[in-house]
Amino acid sequence: MLEVRSLVVQYGKAQILHGVSLDVGAGQLVALVGPNGAGKTTTLRAIAGLVTWDLRVLRRQAFLSGQIRFLGQEVQGLLPHRIARLGLVLCPERRRPFRELTVRENLLAGALAQKDVRQVHNRLAEAYDLFPALRERERQRAGTLSGGEQQMLAVARALMAAPRLLLIDEPSTGLAPLVKRSVFQQIRAVRDKGLPVLVVDQDASLALSLADLGYVLSQGQVVAQGPQLLGDDTVRRSFLGL
Ligand SMILES: Nc1ncnc2c1ncn2[C@@H]1O[C@H](COP(=O)(O)OP(=O)(O)OP(=O)(O)O)[C@@H](O)[C@H]1O
Ligand SMILES: [Mg+2]
Repeated sequence: MLEVRSLVVQYGKAQILHGVSLDVGAGQLVALVGPNGAGKTTTLRAIAGLVTWDLRVLRRQAFLSGQIRFLGQEVQGLLPHRIARLGLVLCPERRRPFRELTVRENLLAGALAQKDVRQVHNRLAEAYDLFPALRERERQRAGTLSGGEQQMLAVARALMAAPRLLLIDEPSTGLAPLVKRSVFQQIRAVRDKGLPVLVVDQDASLALSLADLGYVLSQGQVVAQGPQLLGDDTVRRSFLGL
């Protein structure tokens, strides 16, 4: 579904990605892990068109090359709204809900670009089926939710934008271990519904243990990839510090 080839990103003089290639297949949950500053967020931002945005709209000194194909179409060079409309939707890091709005209002805000009202209501029902805790808190102000619930709301809100592939950055950061696990289990439930997900997370063990396929990024390069990275002692020791 998503094929990234030889992705290079540079900001000013700093080269951040040195030719990253990765694939997400239909129905797959793929985890991208690696140390701080490895370039994980930059990879997701490049896929979602935000590096192009930096370049073309903000006119920042940046360089981007490589191929990004989504559902057979070249999307490298498109701006974020065009990419999102094709169904490649990013749920960014530390995404906070509108605290004064209710859970339901936050979800509807995620569907602002959608025109078909009936579709939006169907999607709302699907989001509540995946995240029953949000249905219970539908009329509660989002600012009153726990950290884990706010993260679930962020993912559910991304679902409202009609994704065909979801990119999620650091869903578990700042959450207690049990909550992390439950957030990841819900992300798997999203995958089980047939929606492929590319997730970035600092908790490599957790992310890799639940993913179908993993990539380890280090200093802007993919240094290991495969379905069973946690079973590989060299990978665990050299790249994951486990
Ligand atoms: N817009 C930018 N301008 C300049 N440098 C940047 C920019 N964005 C990221 N960088 C640099 O690129 C490197 C990779 O950053 P990135 O945020 O992609 O890493 P990461 O793997 O997501 O790290 P973390 O685990 O801390 O989230 C860092 O050294 C960062 O300082
Ligand atoms: Mg990051």
